[in-house]
Amino acid sequence: MSVATHHKAAIQPPTDATIERAVALLRAGHPIGLPTETVYGLAADATSGDAVAQIFALKQRPQFNPLIVHCHDLDAARSLVVVSSLAEKLAREFWPGPLTLVMPRRPDCPVSLLASAGLDTLAIRVPAHPVARDVLEAYKNPLAAPSANPSGRLSPTTASAVAEALPLSLVIDGGPCSVGLESTILSVEGDEVRLLRPGGIPMEDLESSLGVKVSAFTQTSQVTAPGQLASHYAPRAKLRLNARDQRPGEVLLGFGEPRPGQTPYANLSLTGDLREAAANLFRMLRDLDASGTACIAVMPVPEIGLGRAINDRLDRAAAPRDR
Ligand code: TXA
Ligand code: MG
Repeated sequence: MSVATHHKAAIQPPTDATIERAVALLRAGHPIGLPTETVYGLAADATSGDAVAQIFALKQRPQFNPLIVHCHDLDAARSLVVVSSLAEKLAREFWPGPLTLVMPRRPDCPVSLLASAGLDTLAIRVPAHPVARDVLEAYKNPLAAPSANPSGRLSPTTASAVAEALPLSLVIDGGPCSVGLESTILSVEGDEVRLLRPGGIPMEDLESSLGVKVSAFTQTSQVTAPGQLASHYAPRAKLRLNARDQRPGEVLLGFGEPRPGQTPYANLSLTGDLREAAANLFRMLRDLDASGTACIAVMPVPEIGLGRAINDRLDRAAAPRDR
């Protein structure tokens, strides 16, 4: 069977049987192609670090951008983030629909830290597409879903564009996307609203609903470009990368089998599995930081596949900072 026909076979109409199959795949930790009203998403269980790591691997993203987490409704969102009254007003007016709200994670938020790239906030959207809604309702758990394209390529607005670009076992065909460009992203902290990404809902609509002007992102708001946040979580501790030894006063973050004399405090993946390492990265950095150590030494991670994104993140976390 040729690659093209294999990928064609992944496309399925949105029947009850297809929704059931989608749920089974998601439950088994596999990403699927999911139609939304904006663009097709590459959806996986947001509470599973391993499933989220597969999204990054499939997209071949050289870095970990925080992902949008999709919920069935406002109540589902409330179990993940703290919804301020202003956020609630926006949600009531524009959800379901192409509006994403970035809100503070709840302390007990079950979403993988990899999905929010280690940030204390989470981007949430309640999609309007009936198929996305059916899957969210049947699956119950929130779904992390960036656009279903390989990194650097155009966002897909048809099922066949997804199937041609990504080797998925299921792409649900929900027809061409009605909006065709990604959601508008707003950050809402208390009563302050900032535009992080223009998108499917025009600013004028948002401003007339809020009755105030919304400040656009600027350099000082730490967003250098949509999808390029400079404000990624950085540990307090110093990081020493490519550590082949362990020096006094350091705690070691392992990758693969430790060598004699190395006693990792935590191990990204004992077997050297990059997907497992990606899933563990942000949580382990936080745990190590919380241990109060002044320096975290990180064993080398190979610069292949997800290893590139892991190393990109580690480089940023190790970079000198002025804050
Ligand atoms: O229309 C859409 O929003 C599509 C469909 C599939 O729903 N999804 C989408 O998701 O575009 P994604 O994961 O590619 O969007 C990620 C962007 C990041 O690049 C960043 O700009 C913003 O969402 N973002 C996510 N989490 C954030 C956070 N905690 N703080 C600030 N920005 C965040
Ligand atoms: Mg995208």
